[in-house]
Amino acid sequence: MAALPGFVGGALKAKLENVSRTDLKARAQRISEAYRAGGGSTVIRSDLDALAYAVVRMPATYAAVRAALAQTLEIIPDFAPRTLLDIGAGPGTATWAASDAWPSLERAALIDENAHLLALAETMPAPSLDVSPQRAALAAALSGAKAADVVMASYVLTELPDASLRATLGRLWDKAARLLVIVEPGTPDGFKRILACRDALIGFGAQIVAPCSHEAGCPLADAERWCHFNARVPRNRDHIVAKDAIVPFEDEKFCYLAAGKGFAPLARGRRVLATPKVDKSAVTLTLCAPDVPVQQRISRRDKDAYRAAKRLDWGDAIAENRSRTS
Ligand SMILES: C[S@@+](CC[C@H](N)C(=O)[O-])C[C@H]1O[C@@H](n2cnc3c(N)ncnc32)[C@H](O)[C@@H]1O
Repeated sequence: MAALPGFVGGALKAKLENVSRTDLKARAQRISEAYRAGGGSTVIRSDLDALAYAVVRMPATYAAVRAALAQTLEIIPDFAPRTLLDIGAGPGTATWAASDAWPSLERAALIDENAHLLALAETMPAPSLDVSPQRAALAAALSGAKAADVVMASYVLTELPDASLRATLGRLWDKAARLLVIVEPGTPDGFKRILACRDALIGFGAQIVAPCSHEAGCPLADAERWCHFNARVPRNRDHIVAKDAIVPFEDEKFCYLAAGKGFAPLARGRRVLATPKVDKSAVTLTLCAPDVPVQQRISRRDKDAYRAAKRLDWGDAIAENRSRTS
């Protein structure tokens, strides 16, 4: 479970002093309802709205981005980026997750049109990261933005009109010197957008670093299921109160894509696409492969392989010899 880093939690805690929890809860509910109805972040119109958003959504989007980066890092462990461009940065969630994943990061440019979310990001003092926030709409900002080793687009493409997706993606790809990471909600709609990005990026010549095992046809493109993963998110007391929740955790489903440039041939193994089925006689894995998912049954009679397979989880990548790639 990836919890928000201390400096983010600390900034939120300081902001929450003297804030009515009843007011916070009402704002959080209004924002969640607007998102559920397909609206975007324009529902966030004040600093208190931004705080309510950060309390209820930031732990989940942080955990999703951090989990996506953990899977990506397993494939390119030697990559040590220095610069980051975070588009639709909001309260900086993807930047904080990236700086946790890559301590090599030195500078991050955050672009967002929402002044309240960006102002909140500015109150979070990431240690040893030079952060420059820019309040601007993406279309205008991207033409002037400097290229960066990593470009992050976390839970933002979902807010752009479908008709502008390909043009935006082209600009993001131009700005990404080595890696573009896109994270979207783990819904069929989020997956559809990721698939469209995957097709376009492969057309631009991208290496798909993760989660795919290959650049051929996606095995789930026409399936009833969709490629997504799960991040378990710890809830603190304010999170529980704002959400009227009972349990101290929630599960955030997410889709993602990490597309690279100039990496040596990648040893990606095969991604486990669903929770492994374990019974007394075997472990059955659903694995990513070109065009159709592969079902692999590992019999209990094959003791070492069975024991290794029992440790595997949804989202892990396994080498052809069935051991983890990490
Ligand atoms: C759901 S929030 C995600 C924030 C952050 N990336 C995260 O993962 O928590 C979407 C963000 O995208 C920003 N956004 C949406 N459309 C935008 C646009 N056209 N130009 C700039 N920012 C935009 C919103 O203001 C908001 O901060």
